[in-house]
Amino acid sequence: MSSVVIVGAQWGDEGKGKIVDLYTEDADMVVRYAGGPNAGHTLVVGQEKVVVRLLPSGILRPTTSCIIGQGMVIDLGVLAAEIDELTRRGYRGVEERLAISDRAHLILPYHILVDRLREGAASAETAIGTTKKGIGPAYEDKVRRTGLRLGELRHPDKLERRAQAALEAWAPIIQALGGQVPSVEEVLAPVLALAPRFLPLLANTSARVDAAVSADQRVLFEGAQGTLLDIDHGTYPFVTSSSASAGGAAIGAGIGPNRLDTVVGITKAYTTRVGGGPFPTELDDEQGERLRQLGGEFGAVTGRPRRTGWLDLPALRYAARVNGLDGLALTKLDVLSGFGPIKTCVAYDTPEGRVEDLPIDALDTPGQVTPVYVEHEGWTETLEHCRTLDELPIAARRYIRFIEEQTRVPVYLVSVGQERRATIVLQHPFLGRAAAP
Ligand code: GDP
Ligand code: IMO
Ligand code: MG
Repeated sequence: MSSVVIVGAQWGDEGKGKIVDLYTEDADMVVRYAGGPNAGHTLVVGQEKVVVRLLPSGILRPTTSCIIGQGMVIDLGVLAAEIDELTRRGYRGVEERLAISDRAHLILPYHILVDRLREGAASAETAIGTTKKGIGPAYEDKVRRTGLRLGELRHPDKLERRAQAALEAWAPIIQALGGQVPSVEEVLAPVLALAPRFLPLLANTSARVDAAVSADQRVLFEGAQGTLLDIDHGTYPFVTSSSASAGGAAIGAGIGPNRLDTVVGITKAYTTRVGGGPFPTELDDEQGERLRQLGGEFGAVTGRPRRTGWLDLPALRYAARVNGLDGLALTKLDVLSGFGPIKTCVAYDTPEGRVEDLPIDALDTPGQVTPVYVEHEGWTETLEHCRTLDELPIAARRYIRFIEEQTRVPVYLVSVGQERRATIVLQHPFLGRAAAP
């Protein structure tokens, strides 16, 4: 199998960065296909911790080529800072290994302004709790056909005309929200200052990715956010504005869906969510706080505390369906040590009776859905040192087996710590069965 999609199977922050970083040891190319600097993917190598936002998580490997695909929205200031930080920390050749689609869209200051103003004006019930990075407004501009693409940096006159048109469309919205409309000059000055640095990196990445797949290179497609945040498949309207799920890989990278061989869904051994919206298995109590503390559940980019709860198996089955998951990577199993008994949600009680499918559109209506839990025996041993299934306590092995039975998706990998090596590999999407970690 030469092309593998990694996708978040929950509400984001499942540990995609760690898994992509791990798999890229055997990959030639890593492609980000959706989202923007709302993502925060953590990579831990030895004592070193790196959080990437726009750069693909393969960037730490000196021979992996990295692609920022056309499905993404790019804040050039954030990208420049990210590259500079890696260079400062001693990673070499970052820009040399990076290509950016000239069809990706720019995040401009008015997008960030509108995102902030809207979040500030929303009530506790309606606030989406966005990352305030301008993601939603940038994708709105794309769909409204007033967005600016990176390729337009090659033509500053045209860029200015199009920015003017976009600003005119945003001005009434900014004013209605009590904001100050910026001038075209203010908007474009920082972008034009960075253009000479980024113009040489712009490319027809769709053709490049297709050529890599055709040459049987190993290509990894790195999802951002998660299935339940996907604009089509998520808990709308409490979602992000891009196609985060596996289908988005074809569109966002610019290749045919038949070029994608394997889809691996990343899920925590429990559930988290950051921002507003339904979360039926949420633990609002002391146990939830313990999960947050032991799991370090604070946003990689915003530092916001993540909401925590039990594993939602109907949600995972839903993710298996809409992504066509071939395998699961189960992360953060180590965090559940000492938690016994552990609960999982296996079904929902609804006015129509008990259902095993996720009743996604009823989730935010109070009293409409009640999770049905089963209890699992816990374990007290720490797991960070485990490198094979046999080294895990029997209760942890039973927990993994239960998830496989409930989702009918095999677990390809179990992650037992932040570090690259704290991993049990059962089936490797590039190398096949039971490769050594
Ligand atoms: P992503 O957005 O999906 O890449 O995930 P984040 O990086 O936002 O959040 C996942 C967090 O969990 C990071 O701090 C990771 O270092 C950490 N992490 C990943 N896998 C494991 C694991 O198996 N055990 C523990 N304890 N932490 C993990
Ligand atoms: P990674 O790739 C977790 C959430 C925000 C908010 C909603 C919309 O690190 O898993 P946006 O700024 O995208 O308009 O916010 O989506 N969100 C994420 N939550 N992980 C992410 O990315 C997220 N990206 C966006 O918290 O609820
Ligand atoms: Mg994250």
